[in-house]
Amino acid sequence: MDIIIVAAVAENGVIGRGNALPWRLKSDLTHFRSLTMGKPVVLGRKTYQSIGKPLAGRTTIVISRDHSFSAPGIVTAPSLDAALACARGDARRRGAGAIIIAGGADIYAQALRCATRLVITEVHMPVEGDAQFPVIDRQIWRESARSEQQAGPQDEAKFAFVTYECAVNESAGRQSAA
Ligand SMILES: NC(=O)c1ccc[n+]([C@@H]2O[C@H](COP(=O)([O-])OP(=O)(O)OC[C@H]3O[C@@H](n4cnc5c(N)ncnc54)[C@H](OP(=O)(O)O)[C@@H]3O)[C@@H](O)[C@H]2O)c1
Repeated sequence: MDIIIVAAVAENGVIGRGNALPWRLKSDLTHFRSLTMGKPVVLGRKTYQSIGKPLAGRTTIVISRDHSFSAPGIVTAPSLDAALACARGDARRRGAGAIIIAGGADIYAQALRCATRLVITEVHMPVEGDAQFPVIDRQIWRESARSEQQAGPQDEAKFAFVTYECAVNESAGRQSAA
């Protein structure tokens, strides 16, 4: 089962500000929707609350240490491992071949050790913010595809869709490197 990290990352590594996205990039939201539709999507509690509702057409699995946390239309999980177990079952039932990890910073940092692919929107501008994507170790993650995009009418910047594949496995020390 593929475990795919999907993120949009500014030139300086920023992904968020004040628990919101720090840019307007309509094209990337459309890309995110098409990439994730029909698949289980794992989110941290803060990112879920910044979105404010379940993702339509996708089982929305929210990780929180607060056992009383719940909301209509989502599944909650007490750890990343529990969320992945839940997502695997959901993907099998749906016939989906992948689980999506959709952030935020805290969850990306933990999920790098088990992800099989990164699908990163590289936003071609620096941005001020308080949430960062972890550094991508190029010994572990090899770029396999890149598609440069022009800014559309509702996009603040040019960007590129970039795919990275994991070049090493767990036993080769990915966990410590991540
Ligand atoms: N640019 C992008 O692609 C993108 C994508 C997603 C999010 N973002 C941005 O990222 C920012 C949010 O990131 P964040 O790091 O602040 O928060 P986050 O990763 O969304 O959520 C963190 C929360 O997840 C729960 N959690 C984390 N690890 C856990 C674990 N091992 N076990 C159980 N629960 C765990 C905790 O919830 P509790 O406190 O409830 O225990 C923790 O407070 C926002 O600015 C958002 O807009 C950007």
